[in-house]
Amino acid sequence: MNMIVAADSRWGIGRDNGLLASLPTDMKYFREHTLGKVVVMGRKTLESLPGKKGLPKRTNIVLSANPDFEAEGCKVVHSEYELFDELAQYEPDDIFLIGGASLYNRFYKYCRRLYITRMDADLDADAFIVNIDEDEDYSLVSESEPVTENGITFRFLIYSRNTEGLNRARTLKF
Ligand SMILES: NC(=O)c1ccc[n+]([C@@H]2O[C@H](COP(=O)([O-])OP(=O)(O)OC[C@H]3O[C@@H](n4cnc5c(N)ncnc54)[C@H](OP(=O)(O)O)[C@@H]3O)[C@@H](O)[C@H]2O)c1
Repeated sequence: MNMIVAADSRWGIGRDNGLLASLPTDMKYFREHTLGKVVVMGRKTLESLPGKKGLPKRTNIVLSANPDFEAEGCKVVHSEYELFDELAQYEPDDIFLIGGASLYNRFYKYCRRLYITRMDADLDADAFIVNIDEDEDYSLVSESEPVTENGITFRFLIYSRNTEGLNRARTLKF
């Protein structure tokens, strides 16, 4: 599994159940990486999407503990066990964790690659992911040139799980 996220200078990723910034180049990057793939998200992230429905041209998997929750264009799973059972049928590299904070923080350790759009600004977030630079299991392997849009400068970073981390992840339950 891989993860894709946009984070600000304090690793903030959202405010009031919405994104921190509108960055067309980042939206394009997200689309290019996820089109035709499997996207995994929490119920709150789904409800922040236009029309509160799954993203087009992708297999949408949504995690909710509510057994009655349904969403157009989505497969809903109700537990971590059910999620991993569902994901087992897909090629790991075709699966993208797309948020929000609770899913990123719970599952990033299962991800081989982290595609992080790092915004060089404090955008007053109320939802955060952990500081990936402090996680010894991941190394920064790629960094784009800076891009500035709507007054925000950002870079596309790719972190890769190192071998030691890979071995530790294999010993986890799923
Ligand atoms: N910057 C980015 O790239 C990015 C991307 C995506 C989202 N976001 C932001 O992230 C924020 C939302 O994050 P969030 O943490 O509040 O919400 P979230 O992770 O999107 O969804 C949380 C919900 O997922 C379900 N869930 C989580 N863990 C579960 C488990 N183990 N078993 C069953 N269900 C589980 C629960 O749904 P039920 O309550 O239905 O049980 C929970 O309330 C928003 O601000 C959003 O804009 C940012």
